[in-house]
Amino acid sequence: MKIGLLTSGGDCPGLNAVMRAFTRFAFLNLPRPEILGFKDGYTGLIENNFVPVGEHFFDDLLYTGGTVLGSIRQPFKNMADPAEDGVSKLDKMVENYRRLGLDCLVTLGGAGTHKTAAMLSAEGCNVIGLPKTIDNDIWGTEFTFGFDTAAEVAAKCVREMHATAYSHGRTILVEVMGNKTGWLSLYAAVAGGAHACILPEFPYDEAALAEYIARRRENGARYDVIVVAEGAMTKEESTWKRKEMLLRRKELGYSTATARIARAIENRTGAEARVQVIGYLQRGAEPNAHDRALCTMMGAYAGELVREGRFGVTVAVEGGRITYNPLSDIAGRTKFITPENPMYLAAKSTGIYFGD
Ligand code: F6P
Repeated sequence: MKIGLLTSGGDCPGLNAVMRAFTRFAFLNLPRPEILGFKDGYTGLIENNFVPVGEHFFDDLLYTGGTVLGSIRQPFKNMADPAEDGVSKLDKMVENYRRLGLDCLVTLGGAGTHKTAAMLSAEGCNVIGLPKTIDNDIWGTEFTFGFDTAAEVAAKCVREMHATAYSHGRTILVEVMGNKTGWLSLYAAVAGGAHACILPEFPYDEAALAEYIARRRENGARYDVIVVAEGAMTKEESTWKRKEMLLRRKELGYSTATARIARAIENRTGAEARVQVIGYLQRGAEPNAHDRALCTMMGAYAGELVREGRFGVTVAVEGGRITYNPLSDIAGRTKFITPENPMYLAAKSTGIYFGD
């Protein structure tokens, strides 16, 4: 049985752990497995660039962050566009899939990866997806692998800001990754004991947020820790098209909202504000025990799906159990935090201010 394996999109903790579990399952349970590891995501499939993955290829990689296969972002939007030679990337992938005689392709990735996986599936390739991303925003799954580790890193950073913010009586704003959704920010704010949290799903009012901090100070608070998601936007910005918003921000000389909020707070309260962007520390960590266990279960489950011949699906967690969803159901959909989300409600009811 010939199987292609690839990791696509931004990396996250646990990619190697999933591939390790899948490979182990394959060599123990599938007939004459031959696994090809495509280099740099879909780019490897487009360019026919792969390495043979033997039984012990991933043996020592349970703990290793990133992906040893490499990953390059290949925007799904251009996949079906004809290139200079008249052939689209999608056509090249389907051609290579067929020419190599693959029985199936296992793709580890986020929303964009799943969009492309659904396109390949619609072209007749046997595809199985696995939900990776520190953003936890893939539709149809309660958790993506990599999220728990990233949340732990982010929460630790938020926690550690308290001591230094207290010492200097400052307001520290911690910028957490997450462009469209605020899952990572919400978990980091709750688990890190933040005083406020600004999420893309709930556009904020700058004056109201500055006023909230001013009131805290008047009531005796010495310092503040605020989590700001990378994709946070004001109520006004949320009425604009994304492209327009990014352009206007560029003209004004900033890309994310964090530094702007810091300035507004300084102006309103007179307190010193500082910005801490955690960035790639959230992506590069070794997968924690929870993620290593989840990755192992998901990788083995993907192996089961291959054994059953169940393709055109992606692995998911529902009600705490590992299951699958049709690729066509989840492609192009995003899992947002809703106002009914229990963690959001618990955060609100225990005093975290969301700036809305
Ligand atoms: O998709 C995961 C993610 O980490 C987002 O949270 C973040 O906005 C983005 O990737 C950053 O990606 P890049 O690697 O292109 O800087």
